[in-house]
Amino acid sequence: MSNVLRQPAELTYQMELDALKAEDTGPKPTNWSLSPQAVVTYLLGGQTPGGTEISSKYIGNRRLIETAVATLATDRALLLLGVPGTAKSWVSEHLAAAICGNSTQVIQCTAGTDENQIRYGWNYAQLLAKGPSKEALVPTPLYRAMESGTLCRLEELTRMGSDVQDTLITVLSEKMLPIPELNSAIYAEQGFNVIATANNRDKGVNELSSALKRRFNVVVLPLPDDMNEEISIVVRRVEEMGSSLALPVPANAKAEIEKVITIFRELRGGETLDGKVTLKTPTGNLSTAEAIAVMVGGLSQANWFNNGKLGPEDISSNLVGAIVKDPVQDKVVLEEYLETVLKKRRDFAPYYKSMNDVL
Ligand SMILES: Nc1ncnc2c1ncn2[C@@H]1O[C@H](COP(=O)(O)OP(=O)(O)O)[C@@H](O)[C@H]1O
Ligand SMILES: [Mg+2]
Repeated sequence: MSNVLRQPAELTYQMELDALKAEDTGPKPTNWSLSPQAVVTYLLGGQTPGGTEISSKYIGNRRLIETAVATLATDRALLLLGVPGTAKSWVSEHLAAAICGNSTQVIQCTAGTDENQIRYGWNYAQLLAKGPSKEALVPTPLYRAMESGTLCRLEELTRMGSDVQDTLITVLSEKMLPIPELNSAIYAEQGFNVIATANNRDKGVNELSSALKRRFNVVVLPLPDDMNEEISIVVRRVEEMGSSLALPVPANAKAEIEKVITIFRELRGGETLDGKVTLKTPTGNLSTAEAIAVMVGGLSQANWFNNGKLGPEDISSNLVGAIVKDPVQDKVVLEEYLETVLKKRRDFAPYYKSMNDVL
């Protein structure tokens, strides 16, 4: 086993991808490694025709994933939209791994991203020595994806300035990238496309211009609306992360996950699950991804400091940390929830106590 902390999806799930590829008889868009059907199977899980188990990466609506995959087979780019923690980056990585076998052509968009990080940069030593030439040009992930007919991932597209976003318009509509310094251009190979993710909750987002928006099909990834679905996402990911971090997952983990998800859903939804008590909601968004992080933190604490016995004491400090993002406002919200709801539930008594201890 390699000592790399985290490998890209195409290496972690190489066996599944190889099995799907070997048995894939469906028609493929040019330059795709798998047929669209097989890509969907890779994401949602199932079996190959020959009976190899494919684990499910995304738990949710099949239609959403089909739309996402179908979009990538057209000339329109894909924009995955949703609140933080709804698996946008995760789905983007797995789509790229399944479609072109390379999920690492990523540009993380920030307020400081400039055109050179999107189009191409220059190796200044070369530029000074030889003047502008192809050798002096430093390709970006987008450039390489165009050249090789593969996918480029743009993370948090709306974080970068609108003027920089708009450099994508020519790339997406004409599938070419002009290089005026060399009086040339590169033309995208078949198979090239873009998967962008964006957050519809963040403060300080730069809205996409309507010209750019028109080049994207938007797929909105929702928070799971069914509690059991959310529990199963967390159970599965906690098991996977536990094994990759060599943290044993004790038998009671599922019961604790149910408790954590109950607390998350009640605070997120602004009422108790039975609908009887209205609650104030905290400022953070309490996503599924945060529930996973709370549980993995709890497992680590239990493993290293509590002989592997996982209990509310191990989970509570992370739980409070996830809920109280604003130390003044959210603290009041949580105190009220503890006093009006959890205090009265016998099965939550250990949580009531240990959360009060850390609050
Ligand atoms: N519906 C889901 N199915 C599978 N995993 C999910 C789901 N929702 C959230 N997750 C998990 O949440 C984690 C974080 O997701 P991430 O892609 O970083 O969120 P985002 O980019 O939307 O902020 C991932 O590890 C993913 O496994
Ligand atoms: Mg993300």
